[in-house]
Amino acid sequence: MSKIETESKRNQESKIAVEHLRMEYTSNNKNFLALEDINLNIEEGQFVCIIGPSGCGKSTLLSVLEGLYTPTGGDVRINGIPVDGPGRERAVVFQHYSLFPWLTAKKNVSFSIAQVNKNIKKTRADEISVEYLKKVGLEDFIEKLPGELSGGMQQRVAIARALAVSPEILLMDEPFGAVDAKTRVVLQELLLNLWESDGRRMTVVFVTHDIDEALLLSDRIIFMGPKHIRCDIPVAFPRPREKSELYATEEYAKLRVELVNMFYDDIADKIDIEGGWL
Ligand SMILES: Nc1ncnc2c1ncn2[C@@H]1O[C@H](COP(=O)(O)OP(=O)(O)O)[C@@H](O)[C@H]1O
Ligand SMILES: [Mg+2]
Repeated sequence: MSKIETESKRNQESKIAVEHLRMEYTSNNKNFLALEDINLNIEEGQFVCIIGPSGCGKSTLLSVLEGLYTPTGGDVRINGIPVDGPGRERAVVFQHYSLFPWLTAKKNVSFSIAQVNKNIKKTRADEISVEYLKKVGLEDFIEKLPGELSGGMQQRVAIARALAVSPEILLMDEPFGAVDAKTRVVLQELLLNLWESDGRRMTVVFVTHDIDEALLLSDRIIFMGPKHIRCDIPVAFPRPREKSELYATEEYAKLRVELVNMFYDDIADKIDIEGGWL
């Protein structure tokens, strides 16, 4: 293929393209098939939630997109280029805050900026760090160590750290799974506001167990069953979204019931009714 052809193919490509992805783990000489024939295209600027029961392969899929695992089959491309490891256009936020405990909030963020931007001056990295910590409402906690912050605050630092490197793609694996219900709502609104108010919207892939969270945040829900994608559901509610307004609409209630039924059908399949579980 000529250079021009390659370039034009790249331009037509989705931001994230997954074709016939297969992921098999090998441990103790045993193989375990975690994902089979996953096909998925995610367009630039889309906010996609991945939802599905525990163990179905959500984190595996996200790790493959991150470049942490090499798939045992198929193709994964980002911006048309095959993924062969982590890249600076991708940032990640996990359920567990994964901050360096010996670094202040400011230094946790500026360290990550310096990792991505090797030539940046320390003072400039600190300035950007403070700017992002302010965006997540932590202006009074900049010099605190992670151990001095609540779980919700630590997760704000993790979000600031991810956003401060201006990623094109944000990969989030149950990022609010370990905080209390009230903090979770606050963090959802914070993320939504940051994303919706950004002129250059990031592409977000967000794994969650929580149907309401997925409906509030996403443009599209990928519903997974064990090893597979079961369905791909558009979430067309207008933006910017406001939780209480959204919850009051008929469309929201209708889609929510559909998703809840799908989610519990899946779990019901696994319960042995004959065996007297119910
Ligand atoms: N490193 C690993 N080695 C072997 N099996 C794994 C590994 N990581 C995950 N698995 C298995 O792959 C399946 C999918 O796991 P995971 O992607 O973490 O699911 P989810 O995030 O949907 O809960 C599970 O059965 C899990 O036990
Ligand atoms: Mg997981």
